[in-house]
Amino acid sequence: AYVVTAACSGCKYTDCVVVCPCECFHEGDQMLYIDPEECIDCDACRTECPVNAIFYEDDVPDQWREYIQINAEMAAKTPPITERKAPLK
Ligand code: F3S
Repeated sequence: AYVVTAACSGCKYTDCVVVCPCECFHEGDQMLYIDPEECIDCDACRTECPVNAIFYEDDVPDQWREYIQINAEMAAKTPPITERKAPLK
């Protein structure tokens, strides 16, 4: 699955959401999360993010590895998002 990491926090550009062919994005207060159960590994979102916040799980940089678990946990607790919204900054 793909993983949303720290660069999304405080941003939420949501460019990723509109290219997602399934409904794997969930919205937290400060960032988005990808539900690893829903993600089909299509790679569409990764290249859309203006701040390069999204990585394939095997490619997540060491300092952000914890986000793999955070995405799985938070996606289960937050509502799905499927449409573009105004970013936080
Ligand atoms: Fe966040 Fe980038 Fe999507 S900033 S909302 S992962 S386009």
